[in-house]
Amino acid sequence: MTTTLVTGGAGYIGSHVVVALLQAGHEVVVVDNLVNGSEVAVERAGELGGGSPIFEQVDLTDRPALRSVFADHTIDAVVHLAGLKAVGESVAQPVRYYRANVIGGINLVEAMADFGVWRLVFSSSATVYGDPRFLPMTEDHPLGAVNPYGRTKLMQEEVFTDVAASDERWRVALLRYFNPVGAHASGRLGEDPSGAPNNLMPFVMQVALGRRDQLVVFGDDYDTPDGTCIRDYVHVVDLADGHVSAIEALERFPGCRAWNLGTGAGHSVLEVVHQAGAASGREIPLSVGPRRPGDAVASVASVERARVELHWEASRDLGAMCADHWRWQTQNPDGYPPPSPSGD
Ligand code: UD1
Repeated sequence: MTTTLVTGGAGYIGSHVVVALLQAGHEVVVVDNLVNGSEVAVERAGELGGGSPIFEQVDLTDRPALRSVFADHTIDAVVHLAGLKAVGESVAQPVRYYRANVIGGINLVEAMADFGVWRLVFSSSATVYGDPRFLPMTEDHPLGAVNPYGRTKLMQEEVFTDVAASDERWRVALLRYFNPVGAHASGRLGEDPSGAPNNLMPFVMQVALGRRDQLVVFGDDYDTPDGTCIRDYVHVVDLADGHVSAIEALERFPGCRAWNLGTGAGHSVLEVVHQAGAASGREIPLSVGPRRPGDAVASVASVERARVELHWEASRDLGAMCADHWRWQTQNPDGYPPPSPSGD
């Protein structure tokens, strides 16, 4: 029996990772500071995964509290997703981002080594590639983040790479996510952004729901077939399964290695709007605004390495991503309810 610690397990991607781990037979301990997560998501992940994840409300910058988690539970592996993730906010509050993400990550690997836990799967991002120089992007694409959020991901990758090189017991997977979207097919787990969403899919879904008047498309004069930017959207349930595959692959890959998690297929903003309209049966009003600074024209993963080495491949298409996201959104228009002692 493997006991896996999931940092950020009460969040959007983390809660889906908890389900996947439980379904694969892991015991799960969740650590989350609930800044951007919900204890109800952990409860629901337990129901959906057929297990009982343990929840510890701990912030990774609180070293004594983090060490208590390792003292209280026998942990075999760690999936590290906890962190702040909004690009604009990271520009306005860089110190907060470096503290939460970089110091948090350092505290985590320090505690792991002290307690003899050597297997780490890190939630990284395609943002570490910076401006795409060629497509699809392989894991050997040059690195160079272009904003503080991206730099916190890249710095953590560098710290974990150095740490792995310092002791041969370490096995570290750097998972570079492309654009995670969608929700659990049950409609019970999904993305619950606080405030106005920064990302396309939650914004489009809130427009479909009538919570926002219209989508502003950030530029339609790019050099793409319909003039809007292209991204590699990947279903969050496929993404979550990739973490289980990565933990298993660490048996075969000592040291530190990066894998892209995407589909290998790109979709434009207008394609997403079209599919979201079809999934919701609603019209999605839109207008075209200026380009968003920092946006790349296209970003698509090379998925070859993950397919061959992790034995993992995304199987859900954009239609499923939209349908599942819509189901979550309609069943939980206000996100997660507050936790109650009797469950929800
Ligand atoms: C963004 C971040 C990236 C981060 C990722 C996941 C930027 C420049 N990049 O990626 O660092 O890793 O989120 O959190 O912020 N769009 C609209 N209107 C909207 C929202 C988005 O047209 O209201 C377009 C964008 O221009 C883009 C596409 O939709 O072409 C996807 O945007 P988004 O969901 O924010 O993802 P990324 O830009 O790929």
